[in-house]
Amino acid sequence: MSEVEPFVAGLNDNTRHKVVDLLNDRLADTISLTLAVKQAHWNLKGPGFIGVHELLDDVADRLRESSDLIAERAAILGGFARGTTEVVAQKTTMAAYPVEEHDIQVHIEALRERFVDVGQKIRAAIEEAGEAGDDDTEDLFTEVSRQIDKDAWFIAANAPLKGNAQTA
Ligand SMILES: [Fe+2]
Repeated sequence: MSEVEPFVAGLNDNTRHKVVDLLNDRLADTISLTLAVKQAHWNLKGPGFIGVHELLDDVADRLRESSDLIAERAAILGGFARGTTEVVAQKTTMAAYPVEEHDIQVHIEALRERFVDVGQKIRAAIEEAGEAGDDDTEDLFTEVSRQIDKDAWFIAANAPLKGNAQTA
């Protein structure tokens, strides 16, 4: 990481370097998840289309706000926010999202899995930021985690109840 003056005092260089790396790791996943949500928004077809289609645009907006919080914290700490497609493609830990898929239920399940995965990694980042000594980033990740959990619920609640007979 480059050595520019941070905009905060009271955090040592080791903490700042660790936390900037952590922020960029999770930024890559958050951006990947946003793009997966838009991919579903554009392509899904099936019962419940309009509700899920519109929900996903709201979810993408909230994920962009989360990405913004994460990226700007990296800059505030004196690092670079690394959010280009090239960096994200290289750094993301999220499973590749299906490109040729229409089925709304397949999209709901594919998104649910990825929200759970990215959410779990954000939750781990809460602890890592705390251990590194940056309570503010710990708090930031807590806010992002809560939002991702809520949107995972909004999306997954559109799946049919298991064990119920499907209506034709
Ligand atoms: Fe749209």
